[in-house]
Amino acid sequence: MAKLMSDREYATPFPMLHAASLLSHRTRIGKFSEAIRRVVDADSSIVDIGTGTGVLAMLAARAGARRVIALDINPESIEYARRSARLNGLDRRIEFVVGHYRDLVLDELADIVICEMLSSMMLVEQQVPACGFAVRNLLKRNGTVLPQSATVFVVLAECRTLWNRFSVEGLRFPRLPQTVSPNEARDMSDAVELAHFDFTSPESPERIDRRIEFVVNEDGTVHGLAGFFQSTLYGDIRLEMADGWRDVFLPLPHATNVSPGDTLAVRIEFVPGRVDTLRLELES
Ligand SMILES: C[S@@+](CC[C@H](N)C(=O)[O-])C[C@H]1O[C@@H](n2cnc3c(N)ncnc32)[C@H](O)[C@@H]1O
Repeated sequence: MAKLMSDREYATPFPMLHAASLLSHRTRIGKFSEAIRRVVDADSSIVDIGTGTGVLAMLAARAGARRVIALDINPESIEYARRSARLNGLDRRIEFVVGHYRDLVLDELADIVICEMLSSMMLVEQQVPACGFAVRNLLKRNGTVLPQSATVFVVLAECRTLWNRFSVEGLRFPRLPQTVSPNEARDMSDAVELAHFDFTSPESPERIDRRIEFVVNEDGTVHGLAGFFQSTLYGDIRLEMADGWRDVFLPLPHATNVSPGDTLAVRIEFVPGRVDTLRLELES
């Protein structure tokens, strides 16, 4: 049986209500459903890390997997996932576990690890450390990880709404990364690749540390960077931002007025999954 050890580490638990709201991402779930149907057979043993509502674990069980373990750090989500499985007659086919992925000890390595903790820049959620851990500790040597990889891009952004969010009623607040809708931000340069993450590799990068020179192509003000990703889920199945994610806006320490042809060099540093480690600076 799967059992838990004791130590606790950095985690980004979602409230159960938020996990349930992700059921509205129909194309995201449809793509996972297709990928799961392609890789699961009657011999498959599966771990779903960050199961939330249990939707991906249930798709795996319905696809005929021999064994499915569904793990989440949030006990309320696990309770909800258990109720959902009962509703669908799948509760006997799924083992539900409350805890951090790092605490999961398996009595049998998995054929397939599903881990959907993607976030716009792999900055907030645990996708990168969780997949690295899973490949090293939970997955058979020739096992499959879903999704398989993601490439993160950044672009200079004018974003007055989120810049101004942090001043209210004469009070000032330290600016933080925030998700941003397309109509709130304007691209001020071409997008540049920041990092590529191979979720099938045991060696995931521990720190991103890049200096990127952007060439401005609009008149206006640069308030920060907007980040987004493209992901290979399995084979030719790709996840796009429109499948259920929003760009993340990272504020720079100062707003800068720019014209086309200007170059701005930005140093960006963070540990994937650790938004508290983010450092963003404009270099001269
Ligand atoms: C983006 S949601 C995905 C939910 C579901 N798999 C889906 O596709 O709709 C990520 C889930 O991972 C859980 N989570 C976050 N950090 C975790 C950790 N360190 N260990 C286990 N679960 C975690 C959250 O509580 C949340 O329910």
